[in-house]
Amino acid sequence: MNPNVQTFFDPATFTATHLVSDPATGVAAIIDPVLDFEPKGGKLSTTSADAVLQAVADQGLSLAYVLETHAHADHLSAGDHIRRRTGTRLVIGKHIADVQRVFAPMFDADDVPTDGRQFDILLGEGDSLPLGELTIGVLHTPGHTPACNSYLIGDAAFVGDTLFMPDYGTARSDFPGGDARTLYRSIQKILALPPATRVFVGHDYLPAGRSDYRWETTVAAEAADNVHVGGQASEDGFVAMREARDRTLAPPTLILPALQVNIRGGALPPASPSGKVFLKLPVTFA
Ligand SMILES: [Fe+2]
Repeated sequence: MNPNVQTFFDPATFTATHLVSDPATGVAAIIDPVLDFEPKGGKLSTTSADAVLQAVADQGLSLAYVLETHAHADHLSAGDHIRRRTGTRLVIGKHIADVQRVFAPMFDADDVPTDGRQFDILLGEGDSLPLGELTIGVLHTPGHTPACNSYLIGDAAFVGDTLFMPDYGTARSDFPGGDARTLYRSIQKILALPPATRVFVGHDYLPAGRSDYRWETTVAAEAADNVHVGGQASEDGFVAMREARDRTLAPPTLILPALQVNIRGGALPPASPSGKVFLKLPVTFA
């Protein structure tokens, strides 16, 4: 049996949120939900996440988990919002602790224990969870971040920010704890899956020459055509390309707001004594 997959695309952050469900039982998981954030005014909104929850309700699904593929640097996670709204469990890679140990000190986030306890279930390579009559399998696929997981459910692989669509390539590997060679090796694990495996990516950024957002491809298409790793591209060649390209990339617009929320499982920092909530902006001379 293979899962049903419905994708919600957020054009503000180019993020694909996937709602995956077991057709036999209706048990479902939401992968990488977005908490909307308008940085100029500091305005949060749950519009995107609530649209996914409405689909869960409309289809009579039973939400079992929010699955995070990693601690995102380009959007805030709605994981905590969905947990508080539904009682679902929040799942992420067990190496999230490594990510927290880097970023909690960056924000002097003394309220953030760096052991992953903000999440309900921590999964590593080879772990599994039931999704109704289906099974969620885990590939640890670091490189973009140390904690990146890909989730395998039936014939579908949810690869987060490892591979993107074949005509766009791969994710950057220059964040703290990221590594191009590690990313290449993680991608080989994905490319070793059965060729017909459906691949659902975490973002689509519209490469030159394409105007419609896409988020679903196959292992066969990635292996043959991915512009960074397809056609049996060599490890050394990939590393040189990836590192050169990463040197040209600016930080994501939302990296500072996103990380301080996402290392808290999508929760906001504690309120100040006056009841207001602030995000921090660490400043340094370049
Ligand atoms: Fe990411």
